[in-house]
Amino acid sequence: MTLDAAPTDLSGRVAFVTGAAGGIGASAVEHFAALGAKVYATDVAEKFDGPATYRAFEMLDDASLSACLDWIGEIEPDILFNNAALFDMGSILEAGDLAQLDRLFGVNVRAFYAIMQAASKSMVSVGKAGSIINMASQAGHRGEALVAHYCATKAAVISYTQSAALALAPHKIRVNAISPGVIDTPMWKTVDGLFAKFEGKEPGQKKREVGAAVPLGYMGAPSDIARAAVFLASDQSAYMTAQTIGVDGGNVLR
Ligand SMILES: NC(=O)c1ccc[n+]([C@@H]2O[C@H](COP(=O)([O-])OP(=O)(O)OC[C@H]3O[C@@H](n4cnc5c(N)ncnc54)[C@H](O)[C@@H]3O)[C@@H](O)[C@H]2O)c1
Repeated sequence: MTLDAAPTDLSGRVAFVTGAAGGIGASAVEHFAALGAKVYATDVAEKFDGPATYRAFEMLDDASLSACLDWIGEIEPDILFNNAALFDMGSILEAGDLAQLDRLFGVNVRAFYAIMQAASKSMVSVGKAGSIINMASQAGHRGEALVAHYCATKAAVISYTQSAALALAPHKIRVNAISPGVIDTPMWKTVDGLFAKFEGKEPGQKKREVGAAVPLGYMGAPSDIARAAVFLASDQSAYMTAQTIGVDGGNVLR
């Protein structure tokens, strides 16, 4: 029997990773590079310690975002890991204000979209059959009383993934998303602190509770998401597009 399985080999590919200094982004950089890709990466921090050519950009600043888009045009990526995002929360009646909406939509939707568009244009212009991987969330599949804006941004990511996949399919560019559940990254320091404030919990309590509530019984690691990203980036997933994969230990049943 001949196995019709493409090897998970990214050599010769160029990958672009946003939010690369964060838990999941940094792991994706490591995985893509270890599998042979040439990796370019960005985040807000000036310094980055990983196997990538790195430049700092602030996605809420239009001049900086524009410079990032120009860089994507120079890089000509085959793979986009569209991962940068902000988390915040507050009840609609109290702290869920328009400034928070602007910040979260500014990074998680506006910059996310601009980066996906720049990578798509580059892929089409040089005729690359690329793979775009957008970071959604289990939060994008249902609302949460205290997390309205973040949930809405991630629902938008899922919707843009579907629209972009359909628009780009004729160009052989695949667009998929990953919806993590609860993953132990620096973002969880913020999330845990906010839940402590809004739900009167002890520091660390929310994190322990969400981990224990996962059907598999624990929080995921950044590498759990990076391995799904590798699958979506590689030819192993050649017949998949417009999908959002849950990597959440069983949290969301689809
Ligand atoms: N950790 C989780 O439990 C979880 C769950 C679901 C979805 N996600 C998603 O996974 C992705 C990665 O999250 P993570 O947990 O690694 O978070 P993280 O906070 O560790 O990493 C996110 C990165 O995005 C960068 N970023 C934020 N705002 C930026 C801006 N204005 N300009 C440039 N960069 C900016 C941050 O500096 C940070 O390094 C995000 O899209 C997040 O929404 C995470």
